[in-house]
Amino acid sequence: MPEIIPIASDHAGVELKERLKRELSALGYSPLDLGTTGAESVDYPDFAHPLAEKVARGEVNRGVLLCGTGLGMAYAANRHPGVRAAVVWTPEIAELARQHNDANVLVLPARFVTDVQAVDILKRWLDTPFAGGRHSRRVAKIEEGEGT
Ligand code: RB5
Repeated sequence: MPEIIPIASDHAGVELKERLKRELSALGYSPLDLGTTGAESVDYPDFAHPLAEKVARGEVNRGVLLCGTGLGMAYAANRHPGVRAAVVWTPEIAELARQHNDANVLVLPARFVTDVQAVDILKRWLDTPFAGGRHSRRVAKIEEGEGT
């Protein structure tokens, strides 16, 4: 069974989302499109929260979000326990977000990366494992600050 990877965007990321869906399929994954579907202006939290809930509930291991800067999507997704959404703009940051931070949601700033850059970032994020070790302790401490 191919791994299901939910992917969602607002209007700013909708074109790049289509490109990344094709890439995910070509790589053997099963992209699950949670919207949006057109150029009409929408509110990014309406798309970040449903995807983040799937990750938080353990329905999926990871997901991909896109908006203009990546920031709004990341703010919303990171409200969910266990979700570590990383705004990523280079393949090197994608690698470090996985190795050091165990980022389980990739957030792309659609207005600031090219399609080619976004595909490279996606591939690096998909292929890089969490390094564990001292990073496990640090990642565990992220949740300790919840509600304090
Ligand atoms: C939409 O114009 C824009 O605000 C949104 O895509 C995103 O950049 C928000 O963080």
